[in-house]
Amino acid sequence: MEVAAGSGFRFGLVFLLLFYPSLAVEPLSLGLAIGVASALTGYLSYPRFYCGMVECCRQEEPLNSTALQFDLQNKLFGQHLAKEVILKAVTGFMSNQNTKKPLVLSLHGWTGTGKNFISKIISENIYEKGLNSKYVHLFVSTIHFQHDKRLNLYKDQLQAWIRGNVSACARSIFIFDEMDKMHPGLLDAIKPFLDYYEQVDGVSYQKAVFIFLSNAGGDLITQVALDFWKTGKKREDMQLKDLEPILSVGVFNNKNSGLWHSSLIDKNLIDYFVPFLPLEYKHVKMCVIAELQARGYIKDPEIITRVTEEMTYFPKTEKIYSDKGCKTVPAKLDLHIEL
Ligand SMILES: Nc1ncnc2c1ncn2[C@@H]1O[C@H](COP(=O)(O)OP(=O)(O)OP(=O)(O)O)[C@@H](O)[C@H]1O
Ligand SMILES: *[C@@H]1O[C@H](CO)[C@@H](O)[C@H](O)[C@H]1NC(C)=O
Ligand SMILES: *[C@@H]1O[C@H](CO)[C@@H](O)[C@H](O)[C@H]1NC(C)=O
Ligand SMILES: [Mg+2]
Repeated sequence: MEVAAGSGFRFGLVFLLLFYPSLAVEPLSLGLAIGVASALTGYLSYPRFYCGMVECCRQEEPLNSTALQFDLQNKLFGQHLAKEVILKAVTGFMSNQNTKKPLVLSLHGWTGTGKNFISKIISENIYEKGLNSKYVHLFVSTIHFQHDKRLNLYKDQLQAWIRGNVSACARSIFIFDEMDKMHPGLLDAIKPFLDYYEQVDGVSYQKAVFIFLSNAGGDLITQVALDFWKTGKKREDMQLKDLEPILSVGVFNNKNSGLWHSSLIDKNLIDYFVPFLPLEYKHVKMCVIAELQARGYIKDPEIITRVTEEMTYFPKTEKIYSDKGCKTVPAKLDLHIEL
């Protein structure tokens, strides 16, 4: 900050002398000029201005929950439960100055239902650059931790990275994608960071955010959604309590979930299990419209219908849920747009 204030002052003075050379001669005006320059200095050393030019770690600044709510409301389709949990969890955590442990979210659901998408929204609301921020770290187990025989190397590396990044910025965000394909041993390596410790080797992790993404439990969530639909109940009436117990038990018992046998669950280190519901025809349609809009094309109803219908739906008889969620919408759209 001191460096910034210094250069700000110089910048302010040079600016004034450049545009008002006469000021330098008249003592009265010079006094005025210095006054204005110091005002400018104050402005330039003001964190919001400085951090507009150089990315800063977000220390105290609370989250704009209106903006997060707006993004969730307008960009994420068909996920009323995830929306509600994420908004509460993230807003609450960011506005609490005395958090006792990092925020740990575990996102579960069928493919293409918005898990990576919501992680991006969360990241962008905390750091403007989102996933490109130097304070946001995305690890994909199938890319970064591919070989089981290197487990010990990965463990050491990951611990060093987490420690290094959190020391540099307490409000660091770590996203672990494809958790169901991660070696359980690796998760045990990061477990100490998620716990209720004031400090681990002199570093406090209490302001960090950990987000785990997986398909584990996706089939159970789909089953509950389907039962709901079959009894004629509205999807939006589904509540967290209908899913949360099934989810943590189901995930725990799934040997391929990556969370299996890790003591994350029995030690209650995961603050929220966030379920993602399978997407229906109407949600896929919304994705198609959003994609057209993002590309700046006109929203031709015929193309919208054609693309939405081209996606495949399950179960075989009812055909309610999209097999791939919204995941292949952009590719399908490419086939229907005349270049
Ligand atoms: N619920 C949703 N609302 C709006 N767009 C969505 C939604 N779900 C998916 N999409 C769109 O589809 C793309 C792919 O979704 P995303 O990568 O988030 O799926 P995922 O849940 O991570 O799937 P996987 O389990 O296969 O990794 C997103 O980038 C987004 O454009
Ligand atoms: C929060 O975000 C909303 C919507 O983007 C915006 O209108 C408002 O000015 C923001 N509030 C603050 C305090 O930045
Ligand atoms: C922070 O994490 C990244 C991986 O996202 C790693 O490359 C980098 O070395 C880490 N920084 C420190 C200081 O450990
Ligand atoms: Mg994903």
